[in-house]
Amino acid sequence: MKIDYREATVTAGESFQIEKFWHPIIDAWSPLYRDILEPFNFHKYTCPRLPISMGALDAAQFKACPSVLRIPIKYGNSTDIRLPKELFSIKDTLIRILQYDYHINPYFEEFFAHITIDNSLVRAGGTQRFEGFHGDGLQGGKFKQKLVVEHSYIFVDKHPTEVSLQPFFVAHINEDRYNIFKEFDKQVDRKAIYHTRPCHLYLIDPYIVHASPVIHEVTSRTFFRLTMTPTELLMPKNTINPMFDGQNYPARIDVREFTADPDVPVPLDYYGLQR
Ligand SMILES: [Fe+2]
Repeated sequence: MKIDYREATVTAGESFQIEKFWHPIIDAWSPLYRDILEPFNFHKYTCPRLPISMGALDAAQFKACPSVLRIPIKYGNSTDIRLPKELFSIKDTLIRILQYDYHINPYFEEFFAHITIDNSLVRAGGTQRFEGFHGDGLQGGKFKQKLVVEHSYIFVDKHPTEVSLQPFFVAHINEDRYNIFKEFDKQVDRKAIYHTRPCHLYLIDPYIVHASPVIHEVTSRTFFRLTMTPTELLMPKNTINPMFDGQNYPARIDVREFTADPDVPVPLDYYGLQR
């Protein structure tokens, strides 16, 4: 299902700073905390990891917002957050998440922060978000030089995100030629899917292979994502934040229009394995 990109208009609100505090690190053993500091690497899909549950949140604060798509609230090299008026209901939650990120992410100041909120009706048999298994922030053929990965904090009120915790073998695939997400769909064991918990916040990295579930009855669903990223997400459909100058998103062709469905057998010996 294609995501319905409604064009929201938001108005100038409030600017505030994020201060640095020591935090206890939730699931500090997770490889995520190391991997979000390193450039993207396809080999890491062989090491599955759990999304990090950061506890329950009240869905009403997100439902009170208009749907926005990848709206920037922080630019790089700054700790200044610029929050449009229409998003004030999530201010306290946002501060809590950003303070946590400041503690775990040494690139916090350099990074950009974008927010997506999707309050929408999902049709029966459809998915609210991107269909199929994928990683948020997978750097494919578009990234000739891999950057430090992005990471996201996500929340869903019901029919929560599906997560696969199996190894995926994709490092041998030519990323310029093939759609890696389609390879996840090919390899995924659908009998071994876990579900995140509704109304909980999760920290994810690009190596957490997940999908928006197919919902069988018409459902209103709320999705939130805060993405911390080393470069601005330059997508033409982004919601404009009037509190920043210079938001200019040139029209573009999606990289997936140039890639084919992979038809490459997995060379297990490449991974030091055999059946
Ligand atoms: Fe996703």
